[in-house]
Amino acid sequence: MFKINDNYQKLPGSYLFSTIAKKVAAYTQANPKKDIIRLGIGDVTQPLAPAVINAMHKAVDEMADAATFRGYAPDLGYEFLRNAIAEHDYKARGCDIEPGEIFVSDGAKSDSANIQEIFAQDNKIAVCDPVYPVYVDSNVMSGRTGTYDAVSGTWSDVVYMPCTMENQFAPEFPKETPDIIYLCLPNNPTGTTITKSQLQEWVDYANKVGAVIIYDGAYEAYISEGDVAHSIYECEGARTCAIELKSFSKNAGFTGVRLGYTVVPKDLKCGEASLHGMWARRHGTKFNGAPYIVQRAGEAVYSPEGKAQLKEQVAYYMKNASAIKSGLQEAGYTVFGGVNAPYIWLKTPDKMTSWDFFDYLLEQANVVGTPGSGFGPSGEGYFRLTAFGSYENTLKALERIRKV
Ligand SMILES: Cc1ncc(COP(=O)(O)O)c(C=O)c1O
Repeated sequence: MFKINDNYQKLPGSYLFSTIAKKVAAYTQANPKKDIIRLGIGDVTQPLAPAVINAMHKAVDEMADAATFRGYAPDLGYEFLRNAIAEHDYKARGCDIEPGEIFVSDGAKSDSANIQEIFAQDNKIAVCDPVYPVYVDSNVMSGRTGTYDAVSGTWSDVVYMPCTMENQFAPEFPKETPDIIYLCLPNNPTGTTITKSQLQEWVDYANKVGAVIIYDGAYEAYISEGDVAHSIYECEGARTCAIELKSFSKNAGFTGVRLGYTVVPKDLKCGEASLHGMWARRHGTKFNGAPYIVQRAGEAVYSPEGKAQLKEQVAYYMKNASAIKSGLQEAGYTVFGGVNAPYIWLKTPDKMTSWDFFDYLLEQANVVGTPGSGFGPSGEGYFRLTAFGSYENTLKALERIRKV
């Protein structure tokens, strides 16, 4: 008789966004005439940039001709893309990362969920609280998190680093020393980040205690302040303690196209074992590469036209962020984020719980956001709105929120 992976049974409830979708569907069914504005899921709405579309068309034509047709991609990704990444995301920022340390993938979600499998079962993970739920859930699935306490919403073997208004949303070194530290900066959901010197302290800490940092830079393109690092490899010593995950979803609108990459420096070792070699082995065995057409699209992101067009797209979303932030502040809300990330994190009014505020906003303003408690226990009492809607809808949603 077969047996299942029991760890899956430990996962509490359904994924946050399915719960939201169910609630919205029930409300829409009961109120079919209401016009709902969705500022909940972190999905983009602007179309792909012309430079990206042109590159994809060209690549499609190449696939139609036997002379230029491409089959399986190289394990690590095509050199043209890895060279562009190394040049623009690293060398241009003074980071010492070579193309051979870059693993092209189908996105940061899969990489952030899969990376844990190259580590031993008894590693202790530390996560910012609140944070993107995939880090904890993927460790639950592999049986690394102990038991779940439904009252506190915490796992017995996970180290939580609360990020709240009391510490300006900056994770603090935990009392218990972790082995694997997940840092998502700028952070989803709080939309806040830390300075480069604060990040340097984390790198020094990880090197000192022998921990590895898994650094998720999915929102890097939204950084607007000068003292914030665009890559963890801007910090001295990061090559011996950090893995960096990047996505093309939020900087270039690839949420439905699918492309990302992971950097594993060759200096990152556990004794004699090279994590680069292990991830290469895993990639080669379990992943067959992002499509050629998509990798060409990714290359176009770094072209002069692509860069200019995407800068405009990011500016469009950040205009929304700034409108939400100032609009809510004028309406008396306490608001965070929205400066280095497309997320606005607000304190729920009158001590409402996150889910009560979700229902209130849905019913009274017909606006969908995301309850902070869905991202971790310290997210309770907070609420996330995204800047990824259209400008018109963003203003309309604000007007409605102001009225209720
Ligand atoms: C922090 C973070 N990492 C990764 C992802 C997923 O990125 P991708 O679309 O590349 O899988 C998201 C998506 O919302 C995210 O918020």
